[in-house]
Amino acid sequence: MEDDSARTYFLLDHPPTPVPSQRVVDLYRRAFVLPPWNNQTSETEAFNCLKCDYVVPLFQGVFAEEERKTIGFSLAAEKIFQNGHSLVWVNMVCVDPDRQGRGIGRTLIEMTIEAARRRGVESVGLTTLKQSPAAKLYEKLGFKRSSSAASTCPGYGLFSLKF
Ligand SMILES: CC(C)(COP(=O)(O)OP(=O)(O)OC[C@H]1O[C@@H](n2cnc3c(N)ncnc32)[C@H](O)[C@@H]1OP(=O)(O)O)[C@@H](O)C(=O)NCCC(=O)NCCS
Repeated sequence: MEDDSARTYFLLDHPPTPVPSQRVVDLYRRAFVLPPWNNQTSETEAFNCLKCDYVVPLFQGVFAEEERKTIGFSLAAEKIFQNGHSLVWVNMVCVDPDRQGRGIGRTLIEMTIEAARRRGVESVGLTTLKQSPAAKLYEKLGFKRSSSAASTCPGYGLFSLKF
């Protein structure tokens, strides 16, 4: 029987380590090698990709842990535009494939949204494959698809949640 009480979520305004840990890199690679992504990312590529999401200004991350081991994360950052508007942009969300379907991804996004709301930004935005389970999850949580996003990158959609 699964024990949900052994799972902990941390909302962080700085990355948990200066660069992504080996465990975070492994988790990312195992999550994105599966359909619909099928990404055969090398360890170095994965590290570099995640590192970019760690070094952003105004970092906002949520990490899920079991027995002090990371089992999922959401990496986001606040962006403030020249005209004063601001949003939280979600760069990356993934959950350990062995633990998917247990509400972890939903909690990561809900905490991301709540933290963004507390920051006082106007919206939360992200892109993902239009035909992915993640897209369904975002829509369930109130994100709306923008029809114009497909022109930016085929197959992808822009999703935003306005407060
Ligand atoms: C997308 C992802 C983060 C979801 O995490 P998760 O912990 O498995 O999701 P949850 O268990 O919280 O499920 C949330 C909802 O999404 C739906 N969902 C999740 N995975 C699904 C799947 N494979 N097919 C259909 N629906 C799915 C669930 O039905 C659930 O809805 P409910 O809360 O109304 O029951 C996770 O599957 C993942 O890491 N995927 C690979 C990486 C990825 O796609 N990241 C997002 C890219 S932007």
